[in-house]
This record gives sequence, C-alpha cells and structure tokens, in this order.
Amino acid sequence: MTPDLMEEGALRLERSLVTSGVGQTESGGREAGYGRVHTPGEVDTTHGRILYLEDVHVSFDGFKAINGLSLDIAPGELRCVIGPNGAGKTTMMDIITGKTRPDSGQVFFGSTIDLLRHREAEIAALGIGRKFQKPTVFEQLSVFENLELALATDKRVRHSMVFRLTGEEQDRLAEVLTTIHLADHAARQAGLLSHGQKQWLEIGMLLMQDPKLLLLDEPVAGMTDEETERTAQLFLALKGKHSLMVVEHDMSFIRTISEKVTVLCDGSVLAEGTLDEVQADERVIEVYLGR
Ligand SMILES: Nc1ncnc2c1ncn2[C@@H]1O[C@H](COP(=O)(O)OP(=O)(O)OP(=O)(O)O)[C@@H](O)[C@H]1O
Ligand SMILES: [Mg+2]
Repeated sequence: MTPDLMEEGALRLERSLVTSGVGQTESGGREAGYGRVHTPGEVDTTHGRILYLEDVHVSFDGFKAINGLSLDIAPGELRCVIGPNGAGKTTMMDIITGKTRPDSGQVFFGSTIDLLRHREAEIAALGIGRKFQKPTVFEQLSVFENLELALATDKRVRHSMVFRLTGEEQDRLAEVLTTIHLADHAARQAGLLSHGQKQWLEIGMLLMQDPKLLLLDEPVAGMTDEETERTAQLFLALKGKHSLMVVEHDMSFIRTISEKVTVLCDGSVLAEGTLDEVQADERVIEVYLGR
C-alpha cells in the first residue's frame, strides 16, 4: 500500500502549498478555510490529548480491518504500536491522515479538530506528518536540497527552482540536519545515501514542516543495527517537542524507545501498557509474541 515516489512527492508539494496558503487562486473560500486551520497553537490539547480515536470501524468488502478502535495520545508522547500482520496498524494511520475514510467512529486532533472533516493535504497542513515505510526522497538532489524542497512553495518554485530561504528557515534546516545525523552529508546526493540515511532524510523533510504529530510506519525496517540504534536516539530526541506514533515489529527497538505500548489485533486494541506489561499478557503472547 506504499504509494510510489510520484504520489508522495506530489502530496508533499501540495502540503507545502496548503501550508503556505499560496496558489489557492480558484476559490477564495478555500483559501480562507486553510488560513484558519493552520494557525500556530490552534490544536487544543487542554484535555491532555493530541489525538483521539473513538470506536472507529472500517470494512473492506465486508472484511472488518478496523473494528471498534479507540485510543488516545498525549501531547509530546512517543507511543509505540505493535501487533500481528494485518492487525490494522497501517490502516489506522491511513484513517488518521485522511487516506481512508472510516465507516463510523470519531477521529479528533486535539479536542476541537474533527479529522474526518478534512482532506489528506489539509490534515498534513494541520501538523500531522506521515512517514511511509519506503524512503521517498528525491534521489537526484542533495540532502540540503531535499530539505529545502520540503519548504518549497508554489510561488517560489514558479519564480525559480533556486529559491532563497529566510534566516529562520536556514536555522531550521541546519538544526534538522544535525537532528537527523546528516550535517556532514548536506552536499551529498540523496541517491548515494544508505537506506537508513534516506529514512532519516525523509524524517528530516517532515521535520522541516514542524509537525505536531508524526506517524512512523516501520521506520527501522531494513536498517542496520547501528542505524536502528541511532534512529531510537533520534525518536527519543523528538519526543516532547513532537508527539510520535511509531509502528514497529522490531522488539529491541521498541524496548529502547517505548513508554506506553498499544497492541493492535483484528482492528482494535488488545492490550495497552508498558512493554513488560503487554509482553506478559497471555492474549498478546497468543496472538503475536508467542508465534
Ligand atoms: N485498501 C484495502 N482494501 C482491502 N483490504 C485492505 C485495504 N487496506 C488494508 N486492507 C486489509 O486490512 C487488514 C489490515 O491491514 P493493515 O495493512 O492495516 O495491517 P498492518 O497491521 O499494517 O499489517 P503489517 O504489520 O503487515 O504491516 C489486512 O487484512 C489488509 O489486507
Ligand atoms: Mg502495515
């Protein structure tokens, strides 16, 4: 279900356009709407939740992929989600990001933003960034240019492919380069990076948009042990500044980063708690860990 490079690139560009409010020339009403939704600090987390799902259901041709799913995530939390293949983990992310519409249930960003009323690009512009499993960086461009492009707006691209970053943007880019361990590789062509470095670059591209919530689907799949360890440190550094939802099958990685773990099975939450707690749960052992 991973979209190809073109689709993801197009979405990223659309996201930039929506964030900037540029290029919405066909409908003044739409522009006004976008202007409202991305006001900084607008996500209302006074009730202690940045994301809230309640009794969500989705069927594909009668098959219940998501079946009464309820969960919530606190601001700044790093939540791990585990569960067997087909449990509905990726589908849950599809629902949160507007890619899939549930048949019923509630999905809220903060207390006030009903995500089911927003389209995919709008949800990204609200501050929900998503990392798919396959890295989708622009291979011909340098690391620096990839990060720069994550900030590109329609107007800037139209005027010239070489657009000038503001001082603040330059600072953010330098900070992101350091965060993703690529400060020494800024001029390197992205296609020449290792698989793990490409994954970090894509996370960096998401960070350029300063998302409030990051959804990461199997981020360490295919990484070396050292890359996996550095990714764990990266996520621990992002926690607090951002809220993160990480889906992974790699249990040692989960052990390094986890506080609260949610176990998904057959489209709903089977267990929730610390990794030790869920690993000791008989039902979890039966459906997942004991295989
Ligand atoms: N668009 C779709 N059409 C039909 N079935 C789908 C669709 N998307 C997901 N499914 C089905 O829904 C179920 C949940 O799939 P999903 O990809 O969410 O599982 P997952 O927990 O991410 O699994 P994995 O760990 O293997 O990535 C699977 O049985 C899958 O085949
Ligand atoms: Mg999946």
